Amino acid sequence: MKNKSLVSINDIQKEQYQEILDLAEKFEENPTQKILEKFVVATLFFEPSTRTRLSFESAASRLGAKVIGFTDAATSTVKKGESLKDTILTVSNYSDIIVMRHPKEGSARYASEVSPVPIINAGDGANQHPTQCLLDLYSIRKTQGRLDNINIAFVGDLKYGRTVHSLAIALTNFNTTFHLVSPEELKLPSSVKRYIKQKGLKYYQYSELEEVIPSVDILYMTRIQQERFSDPLEFERVKNAYILRKNHLKYSKKNLKVLHPLPRINEITEDVDSDPKAYYFQQAQNGVYVRQALLATILGA
Ligand code: CP
Repeated sequence: MKNKSLVSINDIQKEQYQEILDLAEKFEENPTQKILEKFVVATLFFEPSTRTRLSFESAASRLGAKVIGFTDAATSTVKKGESLKDTILTVSNYSDIIVMRHPKEGSARYASEVSPVPIINAGDGANQHPTQCLLDLYSIRKTQGRLDNINIAFVGDLKYGRTVHSLAIALTNFNTTFHLVSPEELKLPSSVKRYIKQKGLKYYQYSELEEVIPSVDILYMTRIQQERFSDPLEFERVKNAYILRKNHLKYSKKNLKVLHPLPRINEITEDVDSDPKAYYFQQAQNGVYVRQALLATILGA
């Protein structure tokens, strides 16, 4: 992966997952190591972010790199009409790697094609979020002791949820069984379902959250992504479709962990947070170690 962009989870081979996660484990043991002192990391966020941007910046800072960038395209020259290509070519003069989030699907791939420095996709529209996927895999391996033979339920907005798309694709490498809980209009895209089938794996679709809780190892809750709906009435219809409450967990397996890429709106009630099965804030913390592993690997440190 040295000097290569990370645009899609398909850019990563099966054996590379374990290497990245093993390295992330080393960073978790010792997160402050000045191995990137010579490097400048640019973070270009054309869409809002808390976890992805700050965990990348924390990861880079703990490794000694300098961080530059913007958190709002309105404060950059994009506001004056500059193209993405020109922005990337300019910022690549000032940095050794660019972490970019953009609302347009395919923007990260395009940026990687024009950029002389590696691009890390920090989310492109409803398409992919590969670094979130890696921290999700890290969280699954850490809590379950393995990646193979996991029963996972994805719950909520499976149509627009880019973290779901990336994680489902990655998990096809590990003999996963998929339980897909969503309203009719927010089902997992058929391209991802086809991918699961082609890998010889099974997926089951449900409309009720209660149906999957007793049998899964990982319950991956997601937010209904209001910003991706063109029809506000359609959002109103589905916005409260699934709400996980503490009493749901009574009927779950001992080893169950609840993951959520965050932010949460109302799909997990706050009384779940104190349950040992709730793992979403630790999951966000794992993002620092995984992003340290990625920066170190791609920058060849
Ligand atoms: N999980 C995630 O992408 O969160 P942010 O939108 O806060 O970066």
